Amino acid sequence: RVVDGTRVFSLTAQEGTSELVPGVQTPTWGFDGPYLGPTLRAERGERVAVEVTNDLPEPTSVHWHGMHLPAAMDGGPHQEVEPGGTWRPTWRIDQPAATLWYHPHPHGQTEKHVYRGLAGLFLLDDDASVAADLPHDYGVDDVPVIVQDKVLDDDGTLELDDSGAEPGTLGDVVLTNGATGAYHDVTSERVRLRLLNGSTARTYQLGFPDRRMDLVATDGGLLEAPVEVDDVRLAPGERAEVVVRLEPGETTRLHSFEAELGGVVVPFAMGGNDAFDVLELRAADRLTPSPEPAWTPSAHAAADALHADDATVTRTFQLDDRQINGRRMDMGRIDETATVGTTEVWEVRSTVPMPHSFHVHDVQFRILSVDGDPPPPALAGPKDTVYLEPNRTYRLLMRFEDYTDPDVPYMFHCHMLWHEDQGMMGQFVVV
Ligand code: C2O
Ligand code: CU
Ligand code: CU
Repeated sequence: RVVDGTRVFSLTAQEGTSELVPGVQTPTWGFDGPYLGPTLRAERGERVAVEVTNDLPEPTSVHWHGMHLPAAMDGGPHQEVEPGGTWRPTWRIDQPAATLWYHPHPHGQTEKHVYRGLAGLFLLDDDASVAADLPHDYGVDDVPVIVQDKVLDDDGTLELDDSGAEPGTLGDVVLTNGATGAYHDVTSERVRLRLLNGSTARTYQLGFPDRRMDLVATDGGLLEAPVEVDDVRLAPGERAEVVVRLEPGETTRLHSFEAELGGVVVPFAMGGNDAFDVLELRAADRLTPSPEPAWTPSAHAAADALHADDATVTRTFQLDDRQINGRRMDMGRIDETATVGTTEVWEVRSTVPMPHSFHVHDVQFRILSVDGDPPPPALAGPKDTVYLEPNRTYRLLMRFEDYTDPDVPYMFHCHMLWHEDQGMMGQFVVV
């Protein structure tokens, strides 16, 4: 709905019942339905407004993960919505085309709210994404793939009280877009998959056993050029867009392989040895030809570019198993103050033999180096969340372009949601 030039959405967080496994009804939460939420979509330059209503029996919030926007609109723990309440954030979309997402962020309760089903995609478009000639027929050759693991009880219902231990809830069943045994009927030569790890703790290694795929975008948008990969590793909160080719009549499966967790001492404790089928692709006997992706720089490319030479501030973040820089989240404490218009380098490291998924609100960063080496191609694009292999230093380049607010902070935190809820989170303001 467009009202006076503003694209207006509404989302209602509600309780419901879902059939996550065939034939079994289980209580879940969702936006505008029993599980997950609608895909929101807007164009660069558009003003958007969302009416967020909370029909849950407890406070929640809705955070626009990956979005550049004023802190008061961010939907973090400072913008909780009381039961029965409505919150009305509005902002202008001012960033490249990307696969973003939204999910609750209530203080100490994020794992529970996301695990029960509250999450959805927020897709952004711009001139460059149109010019790239990627498959873009939503639900046909442009397919959302929200991957989430769940613990199911013997009777097939969702186990709701599993957490409370390191590293948070690890499920034995993987749902794709809220379903087990997910498949998609393919009608074109190429399919674009918008992968989101919407899980609370699990890291996936997603790929096809019988073919490579073109990685075309990471969290914050298109890469400079597609990169052919066997698989992509996605930690909680991370996204990737891949394009895969199919032959007429064939069937293949997107698979979650044993994850390459990198220097984790007990990988099985992180679910690293598990493997799952994620999405079956069934190609029709006749496929519509898809154009070869073409990359032309966007009109905004120069303005969007981050330059390492511009960095004037370096901050260091050490994550142990519970804290960031020796501190746990305190809603009343501002941990970092950034100056508007500055470019910064954040040096982030997990100092324990445990990985983390480090996320920064408001910005898309560029990974300058991993332990001094240039990042692999899959980590070279725009990012807002990065898997931290233990004991490696990730240098992240970011710029605080606009939107100052001395009172309302943005968050940075581990996106393994049990860690986040345990207090592995800090707050920064831009002034
Ligand atoms: Cu996706 Cu602070 O979160
Ligand atoms: Cu976020
Ligand atoms: Cu963590």
